[in-house]
Amino acid sequence: MYHFLDCGDRRRLENFGGVICDRPAPTATGARRAPELWRQATLIYDGEKWRGAPPPVWQFADDAAPTRLQLYLGARGQVGFFPEQIANWRWLAEIVAPNAGMKVLNLFAHTGGATLVCAAAGAAVCHVDAAGAAVKQARRNAALSGLGDAPIRWLVDDACQFLRREIKRGNFYDGIILDPPAFGRCGKTLWKLSRDLPELLRLVARALSPAAKLVLFTCHAPDWSDDLSAYFPAAKIATTPLTAGGRLPLGQARRITF
Ligand SMILES: C[S@@+](CC[C@H](N)C(=O)[O-])C[C@H]1O[C@@H](n2cnc3c(N)ncnc32)[C@H](O)[C@@H]1O
Repeated sequence: MYHFLDCGDRRRLENFGGVICDRPAPTATGARRAPELWRQATLIYDGEKWRGAPPPVWQFADDAAPTRLQLYLGARGQVGFFPEQIANWRWLAEIVAPNAGMKVLNLFAHTGGATLVCAAAGAAVCHVDAAGAAVKQARRNAALSGLGDAPIRWLVDDACQFLRREIKRGNFYDGIILDPPAFGRCGKTLWKLSRDLPELLRLVARALSPAAKLVLFTCHAPDWSDDLSAYFPAAKIATTPLTAGGRLPLGQARRITF
């Protein structure tokens, strides 16, 4: 289970499957509401390194989906899982479940949270991330979740280049998920959100099948507020905040349905 416990003073306190973790949160600008809880932290990222007696890897399952993720201690306080996506997982599962067999493309797919939720709900998923280590971890998570034989294609590739090739091949998708970072790299190809997002969204719109059901776009840039209706003119577009525990602001999601 995941429980958000508190945030403040630019830090967050969370329970990941029984491990109480205190780590940086640049957008936690207010004061802590429950200062006494923070003494329970067994795992602390102090800005440079992890402290405490943490398990090197541990597992986590959430009732948002019948999936299991392996957590690990990463750079900059990352743990291999983004809790602000849990509400989006529930939304994805609700749309995929009655449309079993739908083809979903997960771009910037990282360790596979959304991939596994969609596969568990019955989708055929194509998982694309530029980092080989992230794709390896996602495959481990699939095996842990009993989805080792599910119809998932695992690809290490650049999101835009992959989309261009799929469009040329005529391989279209009924759902596309994209959670791009501000900066990224795939081999020699650099990804820069402020420069490349319009082209990515144009490609996403072209890679949708005539039976498309959804696009889920999440953006962590605090000042981003573009209108997406020009890319998806026939769609219904809902904006929802991305938060941890309903309190810590981490960006926004655009849930696009057709
Ligand atoms: C914010 S994380 C996505 C988190 C994911 N939505 C989740 O919930 O687990 C961004 C991911 O984008 C990947 N990435 C960066 N540049 C990329 C590119 N040009 N093409 C594909 N993936 C890229 C990174 O390796 C990283 O795994």
